[in-house]
Amino acid sequence: MSSGSLIELLDAFEGAAMAAIESAGDAGALEAARIEFLGARQGRLRDLQGLLGQATKEEKPLVGRRFNEVKTRVGAALEARQRVLARPVRKVGGLDVTLPGSRDPQGRRHPLTQTILEFKEIMGRFGFSVADGPEVEDEWHNFEALNIPADHPARDPLENFYLAAAQVAARDGSSSPPRLLRSQTSTVQIRVMESSPPPIRIISVGRVYRPDTIDATHSCMFHQMEGLLIAAGTTMAQLKTVLRLFARAYLGQDVSIRFRPSFFPFTEPSVEVDMSWGSRWLEIGGAGMVDPNVLRAVGYDPDQVTGFAFGLGIERFCMRRYSIPDIRYFTGNDLRFLSQF
Ligand code: PHE
Repeated sequence: MSSGSLIELLDAFEGAAMAAIESAGDAGALEAARIEFLGARQGRLRDLQGLLGQATKEEKPLVGRRFNEVKTRVGAALEARQRVLARPVRKVGGLDVTLPGSRDPQGRRHPLTQTILEFKEIMGRFGFSVADGPEVEDEWHNFEALNIPADHPARDPLENFYLAAAQVAARDGSSSPPRLLRSQTSTVQIRVMESSPPPIRIISVGRVYRPDTIDATHSCMFHQMEGLLIAAGTTMAQLKTVLRLFARAYLGQDVSIRFRPSFFPFTEPSVEVDMSWGSRWLEIGGAGMVDPNVLRAVGYDPDQVTGFAFGLGIERFCMRRYSIPDIRYFTGNDLRFLSQF
């Protein structure tokens, strides 16, 4: 065989080997190409090696050099391709999975919602179930049945959010009685007692509305947890114990609870409840023994049953637990605040 055709064979071999290596899509295909072209026993390069002996003495250096060159190049291409195929997969469906990810912001429950859920859980352990009532109320449930007569200053329109009479009339017909956003969750006491006989052991959690001047500890909308227990022989001592145990369950053993004599139309005797906050006391709500007039208003016999009730401000508990300095954070919708809970 002439050296010219030997060189041609080597050229053809190189071209075919390079194409096969380049198009090998995985390690298996590459190994098949290696065996076909460079295999020590039956590879095509080995066959060409067998032909080298046919070259003349003068041709041998040229053909030998080309043979070595082809062998080295194809070997190098094979190794390079092996390295590429051994790399971890980067693209999945056009997506480079090795790029650093971008985290989707994760939502979480509002701190007040978390507090409310925990309140319900704690009170549930004391045997209180959860009752609900509407936020738009009539005067019977917000005042009358709670022993708050028509001339009581708490009923002043300037102290409450009454619905505009014209709007109510347009919606319900002009004879409809006044409605207001409830100013206290005590409304739910009445609704529960009206619809079920004693004994009763409920809490009710929700929003209340008062036209207060807004500052760090006051808002015109806040949340209360109302508690009501009606049974024969209920005592003030039980009320105090429940409130103390509740506060400790939520805030820890070091919280002190203080009761100050006070007045509410719907409880007698009545107390205001304070909790310790550092060296100070912070008012957290009111409580007392359910007034006989209230029991009568819902059709109970005050000689047969007694009960206690309490209403606590939820924001203040949450503020104390997390050292939140301003009640306005709860409604500010600032993620820098909300994402801390
Ligand atoms: N309803 C009272 C308030 O909003 C709190 C309270 C509830 C007091 C139950 C006594 C009994 O301030």
